[in-house]
Amino acid sequence: MARDVILARAATGTLAPNIDIDASIGQPQFAALPPLSLYVHLPWCVRKCPYCDFNSHEVRGEVPQAEYVAALLTDLELALPRIWGRKVHTVFIGGGTPSLFDAAAIDALLAGIRARVPLLPDAEVTLEANPGTFERQRFAGYYAAGVNRLSLGVQSFAPKQLAALGRIHDADEARRAAEAALMIFGNVNLDLMYALPGQDVDAARADAAEAIAFGTPHLSFYQLTLEPNTLFHRHPPAMPDEDTAADIDDAVHDALAHAGYVRYETSAFARPGRECRHNLNYWRFGDYLGIGAGAHSKISAPGRIERELRYKQPRQYLAQVAAGAPVQERHEVTRDDAGFEFMLNALRLTAGVPTTLFAERTGFPLALIARPLDEAVRRGLIDPDPQWLRPTPLGQRFLTDLQALFLPTVRGARRGQTIPIHAQP
Ligand SMILES: C[S@@+](CC[C@H](N)C(=O)[O-])C[C@H]1O[C@@H](n2cnc3c(N)ncnc32)[C@H](O)[C@@H]1O
Ligand code: SF4
Repeated sequence: MARDVILARAATGTLAPNIDIDASIGQPQFAALPPLSLYVHLPWCVRKCPYCDFNSHEVRGEVPQAEYVAALLTDLELALPRIWGRKVHTVFIGGGTPSLFDAAAIDALLAGIRARVPLLPDAEVTLEANPGTFERQRFAGYYAAGVNRLSLGVQSFAPKQLAALGRIHDADEARRAAEAALMIFGNVNLDLMYALPGQDVDAARADAAEAIAFGTPHLSFYQLTLEPNTLFHRHPPAMPDEDTAADIDDAVHDALAHAGYVRYETSAFARPGRECRHNLNYWRFGDYLGIGAGAHSKISAPGRIERELRYKQPRQYLAQVAAGAPVQERHEVTRDDAGFEFMLNALRLTAGVPTTLFAERTGFPLALIARPLDEAVRRGLIDPDPQWLRPTPLGQRFLTDLQALFLPTVRGARRGQTIPIHAQP
C-alpha cells in the first residue's frame, strides 16, 4: 500500500521515483521565494514566571523603551539587504511582555517598520499582552498604532492555578483585559495552559468553558511542560498524574470542538478562517526575519536557506546593535535538515499541507524524504492521500515519533554549520 502511495505521488508529479538523491543538486532551487513575516522580540517582563523558558528578563527599573525601539529599527535596517524588495505579510510583536511598552513606543516601532519595509495593506499585526499590564487606554493606543490582533496571556481563570503559576494578575484582571481586548480589537487570541499544578478535570473544564464564553475567534491551549532551566524544573510542583492529564486533555479538546473551534494545530484552535496567519507561515515553512534580543530568523535566497540568531541578553543586544552586528550566529540549512525541518513544522497542522509545498518551500524534490514518508504511511501515521502531507489521528497522537522518522540519516550528509558571524566574509 505504502509503495503504491509513493508511486501515486510520482504519477501526480509530486515525486520523481527514480531520482538519484545523492547525485541531486545540493542547493535549493526556488521557483518563488516563500512569504516573509517579521517577528519583533521585546524581552522584558514584570516578573519571571517559574515555568517559562522564553528569552524574557525581569525588568529592573524602567524599560529603556525609546533606546530599544531605536535599536530594533537599526537592526531592521542592517537586515534589509537580506530581504530586499520582499513584501512583509505579517508582523508579530512577542516577548517577554510587549504590553510593558506604552502605545507611543509601539506606534514609533510600527511607523519605523512601515518606513523601512513594504508591509502589505492587509498585514496581520499581532501584539502579545499580559493582563497584569492591562490599561484600556494603552490597548486603544496599540490599535490606533496599527496593531490589529491581540494575544492575551490568561493562562487560567482559577485563583488557585494562577497563584501556583506565579502570575502577576488575578482572574478578574484577566477577564477585564479580555473584555476590553474584544471590544477594541475584535481579533483576539487568549492563551491558556492546562494540566496545571493542582488542577483536576472539572477545573480544566471550567477554564475552557470560561475562555469559550468570551467568543474570541482564536484560542491557544498549551499543556504545561516542565522546561529545563526553569524554576519548575528545579523544584517541580505537584502535577496531575498521567491519567488525569490525559482526561484533562480530552475534556479541553472536546469542549473546544463542541463550541465550534477547529484544532488546526497541536495547541491552536480557531473559528474557521480565523487562524493565526503569522504562525501558519512558520508551520508552512515560510520565511521570517526576527529582530530583537534572541530573535530567530529563517530566510531563503536563490540557492540557500539561512538561519540566524541574535544576541540574547538585552544589554548585550543593544551594545551589538550599536556596533552594527546584532547577529550572533548564522548558518546555512543543509538539504537534509531542510527536509526534516519542513516536516517538523508541517506535521503540526491537522490539515497538513499540499504535497507540492515541500518542493516549493525547501527547494528540493519530495524524493528527499521518500523513504521516511513511505515508512510513516506504512505505520498509519501519515494519510495515504498523495496530494497531501497530512498526519492521521494516530500520527497526531504520536507526533514526536512521527517527526523523528524524518531526522536526517543520509550517510555523508553535511549538517548545518554554525559560523561565528565575525568570521563571515
Ligand atoms: C511567550 S508567552 C507570551 C505571553 C505573555 N508573556 C504572558 O505570559 O502573558 C506565550 C505563551 O506560551 C505559553 N507557555 C509559556 N511557557 C509554557 C510552558 N512551560 N508550557 C506550556 N506553555 C507555556 C503560555 O500560555 C504563554 O502565554
Ligand atoms: S510573563 Fe510570559 S514571557 Fe514573561 S516570564 Fe511569564 S510566561 Fe514568560
